[in-house]
Amino acid sequence: MTANAAALKGKNVILGVTGGIAAYKAVELASRLRKIGAEVHVIMTRGAQSFVTELTFREISGHPVSTGMWEKVSHWQVEHIALARLADLVLVAPATANIIAKAAHGLADDMLTTVLLATEAPICFAPAMNSVMWENPLTQRNIKILRELGYHVITPASGHLACGVEGVGRLPEPEAILEEAVNFALARGGVNNTLTGRKILVTAGGTIAPIDPVRFIANRSSGKMGYAIAREAARRGAETVLVSGPTALPEPVGVKTVQVETTEEMRAAVLKGFPTADAVIKAAAVADYVVKEVAAQKIKKTADEWCLELKKAPDILWELGQKKKPWQVLVGFAAETESLVEYAKAKLAEKNLDFIVANDVTRPGAGFNTDTNIAQLIFRDGKREEHPLLTKEALAEIILDRVASLLPPKRKLQDREKG
Ligand code: CTP
Repeated sequence: MTANAAALKGKNVILGVTGGIAAYKAVELASRLRKIGAEVHVIMTRGAQSFVTELTFREISGHPVSTGMWEKVSHWQVEHIALARLADLVLVAPATANIIAKAAHGLADDMLTTVLLATEAPICFAPAMNSVMWENPLTQRNIKILRELGYHVITPASGHLACGVEGVGRLPEPEAILEEAVNFALARGGVNNTLTGRKILVTAGGTIAPIDPVRFIANRSSGKMGYAIAREAARRGAETVLVSGPTALPEPVGVKTVQVETTEEMRAAVLKGFPTADAVIKAAAVADYVVKEVAAQKIKKTADEWCLELKKAPDILWELGQKKKPWQVLVGFAAETESLVEYAKAKLAEKNLDFIVANDVTRPGAGFNTDTNIAQLIFRDGKREEHPLLTKEALAEIILDRVASLLPPKRKLQDREKG
């Protein structure tokens, strides 16, 4: 494996396989990617399925294979947008003249073409076709369009072609394709390794406070912000632990997710991961109060009025702030309905944070159960960044950019364990 190829370790590579006799070489490509440690997600066009079976790619990649737009995928929440977002690199190999033409003109009539349009990851084509088709001015014009738009098109090798003639059009050897694709992805910044070798602990969702065996107090947190941060941390190469309260979201690929329900359970999971974490980002909406005496049996509705006695739950973030080592970065969230900056600053100081992400949940587009957020980042030194309405993914990127710049040079795991 070349030094650069190692950059794909833990990264999500979408391997698009289109219909051509060279499709069998894509099997070797998938195998090499897996050996490097990449997560390989194969999308086959209908044409590709005439040459190689879905089963082969499923076995080689260890992931479900997408063969169409509308098929049911059992254990993995794959819809084209999720797959497109997940990708660090999209590699289409072999790429037929047909897929090149479709991509150059923005067609989206199957899973692969849809992902090509919906992703922001670098896209690399490795064409393979008959030499006359390759040299056809239409194909050449389509390739020019793609290259001008920033796609990478690997020039095919020359030699004996499947159609019996000699010429340009052969799919290069898998190793050569891989090297060219990785170099392109690195140059494009598609493979972001800024958190490789770091451990990031994220909390998400709301915790619940049980009342009796069937009832509990909950809050409106959807978990979307924390999940977006965890996904992005993993994409940047971090060993990512997500401690999550109950949510309706699928567990992110490549993230160690610990499911909890109560504040006490979240506290235990967070304290367990904290000593070796380089950064903790507490996006969870933790229940601040718990029921003083949780009933062992279901409470019957006999009384006209019912007073529940609550007591304060432990403040997890405050506790982390007390234990925090100088090399650890601690980030909190503040959801407020008034005096945003003032309250957020007070929490930043009280909980000994490096920065706090403050949002006014009364503003449309901010707060609970939306896909967007309007946040201010307030730092220890008083610096304040005001951000406009952003998707939670975009805000996750900003938060992790700031975390990465605050982290001191890498410490060895042994040193971290020593504290
Ligand atoms: N937090 C925590 N443990 C708690 C409560 C909150 O770790 N028991 C964390 C949250 O994950 C978040 C930040 O602290 O990062 C929120 O601060 P907090 O002061 O608790 O905000 P509110 O719960 O909104 O409190 P207040 O009623 O004081 O506004």
